[in-house]
Amino acid sequence: MRLFSRVNVPFLNPAAQFAALRTDILAAVEGVLAKGHYILGPNVAAFEREVAAFCGAKFGIGVNSGSDALTLALKALGIGPGDEVITTPFTYIAPSESIHQLGAQIVFADIDPRRFTLDPAEVARLVTPRTKAIIPVHLFGQAAPLDELAKLGVPLVEDCAQAIGATFQGRPVAGQGVLGCLSFYPTKNLGACGDGGMVVTNDEALAKRLKMLRVHGIERRYFHDIHGYNSRLDELQAAILRVKLPHLAGWNARRAALAARYDAGLAGLPLDLPTVGVGNSHIYHVYAVLSDRRDALQAHLAANGVPTIIYYPQPMHLQQCYADQGWKAGDFPVAEAVSRRILPLPMYPELTDEQADHVIAQIRAFFA
Ligand SMILES: Cc1ncc(COP(=O)(O)O)c(C=O)c1O
Repeated sequence: MRLFSRVNVPFLNPAAQFAALRTDILAAVEGVLAKGHYILGPNVAAFEREVAAFCGAKFGIGVNSGSDALTLALKALGIGPGDEVITTPFTYIAPSESIHQLGAQIVFADIDPRRFTLDPAEVARLVTPRTKAIIPVHLFGQAAPLDELAKLGVPLVEDCAQAIGATFQGRPVAGQGVLGCLSFYPTKNLGACGDGGMVVTNDEALAKRLKMLRVHGIERRYFHDIHGYNSRLDELQAAILRVKLPHLAGWNARRAALAARYDAGLAGLPLDLPTVGVGNSHIYHVYAVLSDRRDALQAHLAANGVPTIIYYPQPMHLQQCYADQGWKAGDFPVAEAVSRRILPLPMYPELTDEQADHVIAQIRAFFA
């Protein structure tokens, strides 16, 4: 007999966070609306200071999105045609897209098979005199090996879109490279109710340049000293994010507790569970397992109240938009193998123990 108490586990649930913080968020929004200072107001300035401090950096520059954070960061470094930037093919498109937007050459390096971040030995092989930056993506919530990458002597632009609050060798990510890029996309560990991003840095000259780049290249209104963009963090989003920031450490701790629950519940199954790299603290933006039977497992979970989304089903070097770049299947075998086997499980602070146990039970049933 089928029971009607079937547990349903949404894959993501950003509205649950709003429900928990409703009173404070609505008060923050009303405060902004009533004041009428909607662009680059006091909440953006305060949030920039708060995030910079959280990341162990001196300056924060709020921008439109994590994608723009990367583009403006590369632009601030003066990267353009003739330059090469090394990044990973196993991630969201934003890092390679930012390189392409500036007319520079994307150079992909393969990844580590267990932590899914750039393999520093692969990166080292690809550094040339034209290499102007490396974008390590701290994928799923843990840092790429920043110490080994830093030894290559090329500026690091950290993509921390998925890793705010993670540490490497005891220090927060984002403040370790020359520039650190953050996303506040709604499903991120610190998510806005719309788009938002930030670049953090300890370099005052780069901070000044970024502040100009995000607002049409101006320092003084209507005097455009450099070519810029319109890419500002919205005052309303900053006000909402300021309500959420004090909760971030607690939310990340809850994610880690859920990851430990998954680890224990899934132990012994023919799955590769997440591994945490040496020197890393993991904030579990994503908890993903690897399975040779990934597609069948995903279908089984979907049929039992656990829909999932694959990150990432096709590595960047095989995307249609890069067909003219000459990459082909087999170029980055680790990234390709991981994209065939990876299965992210539901992971957010509001996920209940009961829901996590349901996911575990369904996975165990699949392999039974
Ligand atoms: C690794 C990574 N980099 C960059 C971005 C871009 O951020 P945004 O969506 O805010 O533009 C994202 C996510 O969305 C991401 O996951």
